[in-house]
Amino acid sequence: MLAHPALEGLTYHVKTFGCQMNLHDSERVSGVLGACGCVEVGTPEEADIVVYMTCCVREKADTHLYGQVSAMVSAPKPPSGRRIVAVGGCIAQRDGGDIREHMPNVDVVFGTRAVGSLPELIEDALRGNGTLATDTSEDDPRFSTDLPSRREASWHAWVPIMTGCNNFCSYCIVPYVRGRERDRRFEDIVSEVERLKADGVREVCLLGQNVNSFGRQRYGAPRFAELLRAVGETGIERIRFTSSHPKDLSDETIAAMAETDAVMPQLHLAVQSGSTKVLKAMNRHYTREDFISLAGRIKDANPGIALSTDIIVGFPGETEEDFEQTLSLVREVGFASAFTFIYSKRPGTPAAKIDDPTPREVIQGRFDRLAELVADLAYEANQSELGATVEALVEGPSKRNPNVLVGHSPKNKTVLFDVPDGREASELVGKLVDVRADEAKTWYLRGPMVGEPR
Ligand code: SAM
Ligand code: SF4
Ligand code: F3S
Repeated sequence: MLAHPALEGLTYHVKTFGCQMNLHDSERVSGVLGACGCVEVGTPEEADIVVYMTCCVREKADTHLYGQVSAMVSAPKPPSGRRIVAVGGCIAQRDGGDIREHMPNVDVVFGTRAVGSLPELIEDALRGNGTLATDTSEDDPRFSTDLPSRREASWHAWVPIMTGCNNFCSYCIVPYVRGRERDRRFEDIVSEVERLKADGVREVCLLGQNVNSFGRQRYGAPRFAELLRAVGETGIERIRFTSSHPKDLSDETIAAMAETDAVMPQLHLAVQSGSTKVLKAMNRHYTREDFISLAGRIKDANPGIALSTDIIVGFPGETEEDFEQTLSLVREVGFASAFTFIYSKRPGTPAAKIDDPTPREVIQGRFDRLAELVADLAYEANQSELGATVEALVEGPSKRNPNVLVGHSPKNKTVLFDVPDGREASELVGKLVDVRADEAKTWYLRGPMVGEPR
């Protein structure tokens, strides 16, 4: 228990925007507040402390947050009569105290390296008379993993292996808000996975903005391949990892993926564009041909692997011809799924200085064409599994129907099945089950559970 008497017994709610980094940091926020004696509640309206973990990777994320925080001003006060609004994550790191210009009712601002300071900041805010409590320091030597964590799921764990990014892709704000790459110790990662396994965790996702360069800072050479093998040796059943930068994905890593049974046959590898000219302007350090050849090597070593990607449409200067190259690369590589984004100007990044006369409707048209192609490919990939028995790690009931359970297959496909007669949904959550894929739609496989859960 952390000694912060003023916080004991207060209720809290954490709302998370953005990527897996923030999802994991939110688990640390819950862990730290839980260790101070705070109690989690299901909605922000009931909570004495509302924490927003924010994202600024695209403009929409910014405006979304302003709306949510403003709504909190008019929400009825909790039973204690006082509500603390804390903003953490990437917008907090970027804007610091300036956040109050947009959101005057914020009490606490804590940056991406200040989760450990949150209890003191909340205490300051409770003591202070409306003054803002802030910590956006960049030099906290602690890795967030030193802090207590409250995992969202008993069977799944995020395991950070590095933070920050040194790549400075010309459109991206992340290196400015998450700082430079910092690696966690190899031994600490492996022993955490051992502990998690002993605690009943079945799937880990190794996390970092650029996991392939893991080890370069600390050991002078990338050691991600060795880490994958060592994590595999712990006996954990499923290993995933994200994000991978194509320029740093080595042949050693491809071999380690193929030779480590627990590494799932799925890889997220952001291509961003299919045009070498645009990739250069994005500062990605690979060509269209490099990416296609890399994807080929990955598929040769890992037959049947499902590749997914991120693509930005409408980067400044992208022509129709460049975009056609993106479409043809997506077809040639045959991604099983893709996250597609319209380019969003991020002040402070190099690309923000490039003017682009391309009309918004033209970019939207390209985006729609790409989305259609991605959906067609996802449908084809799922059709290839029609009638097959797929394993799913069960996560919980679907949002629409409590009698339908949702899980993910080794290839990370969404799998749906009805709770079999005579069983409770709750007894299947966290179990591995086999499902016969009688239906194969664009975004899911569905059918009856067969055999016994494990
Ligand atoms: N480090 C990871 C990587 O390189 O794969 C993830 C980076 S970011 C959190 C996730 C995705 O957001 C990127 O891959 C990119 O496609 C997209 N993105 C980043 N900045 C963007 C921007 N300014 N506009 C639109 N999309 C952006
Ligand atoms: Fe952003 Fe590029 Fe770093 Fe990914 S690799 S976080 S896209 S700068
Ligand atoms: Fe967003 Fe920060 Fe992640 S900007 S995408 S939450 S690293």
